[in-house]
Amino acid sequence: MKAIILSGGKGTRLRPLTYTGAKQLVPVANKPILWYGIEAIVAAGITDIGIIISPETGQEVKTKTGNGDRFGAKISYILQDKPAGLAHAVKVAQPFLGDSPFLMYLGDNLVQSDLHLFCEQFTTRNLDALTLLCSVENPSAFGVAKVDDDGRVLQLVEKPKVPPSNLALVGIYLFSNAVHHAIASIQPSARGELEITDAIQYLIDQPKKVEARQLEGWWLDTGKKDDLLEANRIILDTCLQAAVGGEVDEQSQVIGRVQIGSGSKIVNCTIRGPVTIGSNCHLENCFIGPYSSVADQVTLIDADLEHSVILQGAKVVGIHQRVVDSVIGQRAQLKEAPQRPKALRFMIGDDSQIELV
Ligand code: TTP
Repeated sequence: MKAIILSGGKGTRLRPLTYTGAKQLVPVANKPILWYGIEAIVAAGITDIGIIISPETGQEVKTKTGNGDRFGAKISYILQDKPAGLAHAVKVAQPFLGDSPFLMYLGDNLVQSDLHLFCEQFTTRNLDALTLLCSVENPSAFGVAKVDDDGRVLQLVEKPKVPPSNLALVGIYLFSNAVHHAIASIQPSARGELEITDAIQYLIDQPKKVEARQLEGWWLDTGKKDDLLEANRIILDTCLQAAVGGEVDEQSQVIGRVQIGSGSKIVNCTIRGPVTIGSNCHLENCFIGPYSSVADQVTLIDADLEHSVILQGAKVVGIHQRVVDSVIGQRAQLKEAPQRPKALRFMIGDDSQIELV
């Protein structure tokens, strides 16, 4: 079996970060989101992986992720010249996939479940498609499946006003080569994209063997800021191992599960885990509260932080109010006011959001 990971797209919901970088490379607990997907696929026993990339961010994805050696996989990169839909991405990947059955993984999704069992069931039951479902509170915001008692998918509906169930389609699918004919037979949707749900509905109507399984545990689509923070919280909560590298001075207190990378200097700080701090950071007179991820080469001086993600090379200096629920982009700078500020001075990129709360 092969796998494709979709790492192109527009990323409009995560602007402004996605103006300058791929959303799949935004770190969760200091590791690019995309890498969690690669690791889950390799853990399921699939090592021949194609990553769909866009002309805008493809080079960055390629440079950062490499040929797959670090994951024990062989990674090929497949250029999709425009974000014309999930089914369009499969079409572009067809030369890579050939007639092989394959797992399709949306590069901004994270799941807790082991994928191995789903691959096994797909193969032994000789299916043409297996979709994964997760029970959600607001099904109207997702693609929703109607499933019978044997797990057969009867119908898929995109963002239904009256949902037939509370089972949302997770961004992970398994397909036989029958999906290529289905994709060749569908038309672009009203939003101009070739939709994977239309291709699956085509398979259901044939009828081909389309089943669904429900995921155990959490599923996160990291396409928006709050989802990204939630993913960061869950990964820090469940996966972080304490490991203090770098230099921590005697005035500092490191409490709970905290990871600090090599070359980082911690001076007179309180760090309350779970927290991960990358390498070559400088932290001085700070409080870093739970569920914070600080990437490499970040400077934090006289700053208070909690439940936030700080990207590489950012600087936060002299911000005495606590920074919470925030995502601060690469090389961004937040600087001090000497006393209570009389005025605020900004240079804020398009689509940035600042809330003084
Ligand atoms: P989406 O999050 O559905 O789409 P998007 O990336 O365009 O984001 P937004 O809605 O914020 O504008 O895409 C899911 C994943 O699939 C994501 O990793 C991007 C990827 N993708 C492609 O690779 N090619 C495509 O044509 C599309 C639509 C998405």
